Amino acid sequence: MIIDIDIIDSEVLLNLGDSNNGNRVNNLHASKKLTSLDSCSHGGIYSTKNYLKVKIDFSSNVNPLGISRQVLKEIRKNIKQISHIYPDSNCNLLKKNIADYTEHGIDKDWISVGNGATELIHNFAKAVSLKNSIIIYPTFCEYELASKRCGMKIDYIPLSKKLEIQANLVLEKSKINPNSLIFICNPNNPTGQVNTDIIEKIISCIDSSKTILLLDESFIEFLNDIERKSLISKIKEYKNLAILRSMTKSYGLAGLRLGYLIAHPHLIQKLKSFQIPWSVNGIAQIAGIAALKDQVHISRAKKIIQKERNYMYKTLNKEESNTHALRSDVNFFLIKLKNIDSIAYQKILLNIHGILVRDCSSFTGMSTDFIRVAVRTHRDNVTLLKAIYDINNNLYKYKLLKN
Ligand SMILES: Cc1ncc(COP(=O)(O)O)c(C=O)c1O
Repeated sequence: MIIDIDIIDSEVLLNLGDSNNGNRVNNLHASKKLTSLDSCSHGGIYSTKNYLKVKIDFSSNVNPLGISRQVLKEIRKNIKQISHIYPDSNCNLLKKNIADYTEHGIDKDWISVGNGATELIHNFAKAVSLKNSIIIYPTFCEYELASKRCGMKIDYIPLSKKLEIQANLVLEKSKINPNSLIFICNPNNPTGQVNTDIIEKIISCIDSSKTILLLDESFIEFLNDIERKSLISKIKEYKNLAILRSMTKSYGLAGLRLGYLIAHPHLIQKLKSFQIPWSVNGIAQIAGIAALKDQVHISRAKKIIQKERNYMYKTLNKEESNTHALRSDVNFFLIKLKNIDSIAYQKILLNIHGILVRDCSSFTGMSTDFIRVAVRTHRDNVTLLKAIYDINNNLYKYKLLKN
């Protein structure tokens, strides 16, 4: 089933066709599922063959301020280590810093570190060795890829019309298949919205001896009320909960790559058997420690995101046009295109303006009606909005209207 989102009175509505009939849990139409086990689609400049044309990348959603000065200083200071020091394959010092940062009495035995959150997703899927997975779509494609590579049978559950997780459908499915790994992304990529209360309901109701929840909080650090929105405070209540974070995203370390996972030591121990030694390089560990110590950098980023997101949202939705921004809680948001194909729109933005956005038709379950853009600094955002304005005024010239 392809998701079609309508906007009625600024409210986002998912048009799910048969989602209200007796077959409550939808399985996607085969053509919209991931078909290759090689890789799945991402943003970033190397997602396009024309990457030399990219002047501003709005397709990847990392910290708009990039890397902090303090972190860069630490990297420069320690760069010579790359020639002669093997990194600590256990990442002990970094784990200690993560434990201090996350609080809630978590110690090193509860933490695993990976070469980006993506490595941990794949290793975790292998480690739990379950028959099924449950994926709430549209979402980050690596959950689907990891499940398929492990030979899991996937149950796909669509978000509701209001882009909320349908807890009743997830619980229904996990009752039928209790040996399941549930993947949930909060805030969700690409919709950008938070669903914490619903996720709490799910974790409190699933069979804790059989069903495991991998909760991806890779974007949670961009929220102002992280303490209320993250489930990290509940980690000791649930032996079957694993929380994933991406330092790549929050601290602007895309080229270095760093992520961590927090879970009960029995899960961390299982995960250990699938980890390749030294997958997290020495400079990434040093950068990670320095990044956690520089919380001012994150606070500044959060302020910019909030201000700029509101500015972009208001500007895009000021008047009736073919591009409508959807509400978001984080550093990226969806734009619904009216009567325009997202692939064609992405091409024109890149060819004419050197701006790369994410075409969302590559997300399982999404149509060609959406693009996703990151929230960047004011100057970049103004450039994007001007480009969108130009294209919207020249839809005929650029042959963008569908009919
Ligand atoms: C929800 C989500 N989790 C994890 C990742 C990947 O994080 P990393 O770059 O640290 O592997 C992404 C990347 O887009 C993402 O969207």
